[in-house]
Amino acid sequence: MRDATPGTIHLKDYQPPGYLVNRTELHFLLGEEDTIVTSKLHLLRNTEGSSSGELELDGQDLELVEIRLDGEILEADRYELREASLLLRDLPEQCLLSCVTRIQPQLNTSLEGLYRSQTMFCTQCEAEGFRKITYYLDRPDVMSVFTVTIDADASRYPVLLSNGNLEETTLLPSGDTRVVWHDPFPKPSYLFALVAGQLEHVEDSFVTCSGRDVTLRIYVEEKDIDKCGHAMDSLQRSMRWDEERFGREYDLDIFNVVAVDDFNMGAMENKSLNIFNTSCVLCDPDTTTDVGYQRVEAIVAHEYFHNWSGNRVTCRDWFQLSLKEGFTVFRDAEFSSDMGSRTVKRVEDVTLLRSAQFAEDAGPMAHPVRPESYIEINNFYTLTVYEKGAEVVRMIHTLLGPDAFRAGSDLYFERHDGQAVTCEDFVLAMEEASGKDLSQFRNWYSQAGTPRLAVSESWDEDAGAYTLSVAQSCPPTPGQAEKKPFVIPLGIGLLGDAGNLRLQLEGEEPDPELEDNTHTVLMVDQQQQDFVFTGLPEKPVPSLLRGFSAPVRLDFDYSREDLCRLMSGDDDGFVRWDSAQTLAVGVIAEVQQQLASGGEPVVDPLFLQASIQLLQDPSLDPAMLAEMLTLPSENYLAELAGEGAADVDAIHSARRAVQAAVGGHCAQALEQRYRELRVEEAYAASGAQIAARSLRATCLTYLAAAGERGLELAQEQFSAADNITERLSALRVLSHFGKRADWEQPMEQFYKDWGHETLAVNQWLALQATMPDDAAVARVRHLMEHPDFDIRNPNKVRSLVGTFAGQNPVNFHRADGTGYRLLRQIVAELNAINPQIASRLLAPLTKWRYYSGRADLMRAELEQLAALDGLSPDVFEVVSKSLK
Ligand code: PHE
Ligand code: ZN
Repeated sequence: MRDATPGTIHLKDYQPPGYLVNRTELHFLLGEEDTIVTSKLHLLRNTEGSSSGELELDGQDLELVEIRLDGEILEADRYELREASLLLRDLPEQCLLSCVTRIQPQLNTSLEGLYRSQTMFCTQCEAEGFRKITYYLDRPDVMSVFTVTIDADASRYPVLLSNGNLEETTLLPSGDTRVVWHDPFPKPSYLFALVAGQLEHVEDSFVTCSGRDVTLRIYVEEKDIDKCGHAMDSLQRSMRWDEERFGREYDLDIFNVVAVDDFNMGAMENKSLNIFNTSCVLCDPDTTTDVGYQRVEAIVAHEYFHNWSGNRVTCRDWFQLSLKEGFTVFRDAEFSSDMGSRTVKRVEDVTLLRSAQFAEDAGPMAHPVRPESYIEINNFYTLTVYEKGAEVVRMIHTLLGPDAFRAGSDLYFERHDGQAVTCEDFVLAMEEASGKDLSQFRNWYSQAGTPRLAVSESWDEDAGAYTLSVAQSCPPTPGQAEKKPFVIPLGIGLLGDAGNLRLQLEGEEPDPELEDNTHTVLMVDQQQQDFVFTGLPEKPVPSLLRGFSAPVRLDFDYSREDLCRLMSGDDDGFVRWDSAQTLAVGVIAEVQQQLASGGEPVVDPLFLQASIQLLQDPSLDPAMLAEMLTLPSENYLAELAGEGAADVDAIHSARRAVQAAVGGHCAQALEQRYRELRVEEAYAASGAQIAARSLRATCLTYLAAAGERGLELAQEQFSAADNITERLSALRVLSHFGKRADWEQPMEQFYKDWGHETLAVNQWLALQATMPDDAAVARVRHLMEHPDFDIRNPNKVRSLVGTFAGQNPVNFHRADGTGYRLLRQIVAELNAINPQIASRLLAPLTKWRYYSGRADLMRAELEQLAALDGLSPDVFEVVSKSLK
């Protein structure tokens, strides 16, 4: 919290550190009232730094007890305590600086630094939490070898963990236990971790490619010990996959994972001591949905992959965050694709990107993948840095091809092992290994906003020549009015009557070696370009942006007939899905217009016919079919409507009307599929079972949208289910389409049966937060008073309030403003408790420019927040940028 306006940090101001910390020795005396931290920093003046004897150590919420230089107590005139730092002058070139600080983890509700979660102590240091533990050069380009000693009461804290290897355990005369951990790999402070608590663990092992035996442990509370199997299995598969696909071997003899209930994010890649939100590691059929199982697999992999992309090679400064996050998300997406269905994974990722990242790119917080400035770095753990950053890495992969990409990755890891580097270093390694010039491609790192491709066609019947004209543009974003052209890889094919056609670009030699000459990637790198295909027997339908080859919006004026052809006949799974989406968007928009002019909705029979055909297409796997049948979300439709044009109520009604029409028209086929796909075996999170349950849920939704039959089936499903996936999908259908009498009893039943399982309760809260009925705001307020709700626990806040604001558009955007008020009130309260969560929760309000007729109400809430006393930098940044 600050009184003055928080300052802005700029990338262009980067300076190397004045001192390096060669070794860091930490001693923790963990206590119930306070914790005493003693640090010994072995300092060496940095020859690349400004080379004065001045050193400013970061420190926040610390009580300085004592400070010594080379063993001698430093008098108060030798240092200066500032608001968030400790300034030392006239330091020698090399010295030992020792500090004793007192902290109170039990009062730390920000969940950054050292804090308590339930009965345990744990840490979260990324990005700048370490400065809440002791005075330090808390920046990622200062890498140090850590030795950590922990003294604690072993009856309360039998498990005492930190990074690296356990060197000794002793019993102290005081009765406390002392452990010493040593991590041989130099690391920045943000990768430090400590855990102390009463924990059980499961143990397994992994033999690396060079034959080293690694002990793997997952630490949890005793009650959760049976929920670790899936995470352990995912970890072992991740370790093998990283060896095979990226040539990366694990580098220590031990790898620990700890699950904690109170955590700001999903998980954290601390060296050899990953700390996970319980929701991202524990799995059990009664508490974890199918999607949850897949998420756990992906996050376990993501954190493990950071051991190389993040830890062995880390970031020079926080502007380079995407260096580790974009690359690691790309790596985990590839892993998930190899473990399951590549196309389905791609569709899921694109859905997230389009509905949420595109909105970020179009909003007041828009920033490049490598931002140029920030007020609070915690606000930049965004979909842009993570997901768009991964798309940028994916485009490099596409431009270079898999072999050159792997060579670039190998060069990057080899050249920069043990260093803190930049996105530029990553691109340079890719260029050198491939011989490709990525100069213009770098615009993806520096320019914000989602590029738009406007594509049009012309056909010369006599010459058999087909021309695609492509124009690229990118809307202005804060601080960037004009954009330079991007390099956009545009995957394409041409669909003829009998399937995909052979491609021959004018002016290019036919390549007889090429096995698949029906697919190519066009390089769009100018504002306006023509691509001419020759030798075509008929006018084709273009299959564009195959595999979603670039994170862009693409406009092409397809007829509905052509979309249907692509949907059923293209070779590219992504384009098949995307065509179904585009078709649905058009049909929903049409119905929205009919409703607006007071007419009865008439859903295009072509769409109904296409839906039946999909349902009866045996070539589609059920998971893919479920994706293709799922209508674009209300959020995505609002995004497409654009600034000042999103009408949430109209979108909701139109989408509902289309759902009902499809459900009615396809009732028989839907019910048949629903029955056929019933899983008879015991629950398993296998691809086949997950696909079946997912398509059943889709069918059930349509049937319930159309009438009573769906509700009947949902009641049956709820009673018969042996897993939470089916319980919740039934309950969702009942509570979204039924009357109170349909859902009230099962909703209570769910709580009676599973109220003792925190993770199940969180999903029960989330489901109720999405209900579209009129009582939703009152219900959310009521649930905030429920004994299971806790404003200090981010999972609860996200489940109830985050889901309400993010996934209940008709109620969040109620014309009476009660939805907005609810969000503002909880953000104001959280601002003082956990600024990071407060600021994240605020995101839906920042999109006020989109909502026709609501902008003033939304702005008014933001203005109220702006006027709050003691506004955190986190909330200040989002509020002030949104109001600009
Ligand atoms: N670095 C973590 C990840 O992506 C995310 C994280 C950031 C966790 C900040 C906690 C705090 O895996
Ligand atoms: Zn990460």
